[in-house]
Amino acid sequence: MAPDLFGFRTAKEQPMPNDDVILAVDTVHATYNHAITALHGVSFELRRGQILALLGANGAGKTTTLKAVSNLLPAERGQVNAGTIRYEGSDVSRRKPGDLVRAGLVQVLEGRHCFKSLTVEENLVAGGIGRSGRRAEINEDLERIYGYFPRLREKRRTLSGLTSGGEQQMTAIGRALMSRPRLLVLDEPSMGLAPLIVQDIFQTLRKLNRETGLSILVAEQNSAVALRYADHATVLENGVSVLTGAAAELRQREDIRAFYLGQSTAGQQPSPAVKPAHLHAVA
Ligand SMILES: Nc1ncnc2c1ncn2[C@@H]1O[C@H](COP(=O)(O)OP(=O)(O)OP(=O)(O)O)[C@@H](O)[C@H]1O
Ligand SMILES: [Mg+2]
Repeated sequence: MAPDLFGFRTAKEQPMPNDDVILAVDTVHATYNHAITALHGVSFELRRGQILALLGANGAGKTTTLKAVSNLLPAERGQVNAGTIRYEGSDVSRRKPGDLVRAGLVQVLEGRHCFKSLTVEENLVAGGIGRSGRRAEINEDLERIYGYFPRLREKRRTLSGLTSGGEQQMTAIGRALMSRPRLLVLDEPSMGLAPLIVQDIFQTLRKLNRETGLSILVAEQNSAVALRYADHATVLENGVSVLTGAAAELRQREDIRAFYLGQSTAGQQPSPAVKPAHLHAVA
């Protein structure tokens, strides 16, 4: 079936066999310090080659979910207490974060972490070192990344600390790409950036997705932009995944957006009972 007007495929299309699910998150519960429950029932599946947006308000559990996916919670005194997360079929809780990176699961943490006293290019090269020490391969990857982010080529000799917020976000993404990910995980790439830069970054992510088949999981409070570029979306509310569906359909439903994503101007919140059949509650 052809993609719709916006290039999105609908949820009803071609259910794929399970081995096409690159990431399966099933009924995950997570706590910090054995006390604070951050997640209590998060489930979603990301199919290979697709973009999934994880939406939700402040404190909904987006960052916790992403850290759980990369098995980074133990480093924050957090833990997954129940449920499973499988990346390419294997349980991430049994693998070290570094092993997951080498297996192609690479995360861009919130806040565009760059080494500020290194140049843009040195930051990118640092991202490739774990994978390959060969200069020719690194140069090849740099060229590929500069192709996607021409701004970074212009700024390659500039210290990252002196580049703009948008350029730092691009550097952080570029550095992740140097690991040649199969699944790229991003935490709020739009945060603090001007709308045009946000568009630019999301357009580039979609181009990467289309041209290379890169699967992307992106957490966003900015649901408007995320829904424009994602194939599917899962909405988190107080640590629970409450809704999942095709992004194009979610985007068109004013009532759903108002109820779950706080985009209402009228101040009227429809009942969840009006959820359309093709968007289904998962909890
Ligand atoms: N390191 C931590 N220690 C203790 N509690 C935490 C920690 N990190 C997050 N929490 C709590 O876990 C819950 C989920 O937070 P999380 O950061 O995952 O939400 P979020 O959806 O990413 O929010 P935001 O949009 O503000 O980034 C919140 O109640 C938060 O206070
Ligand atoms: Mg967060």
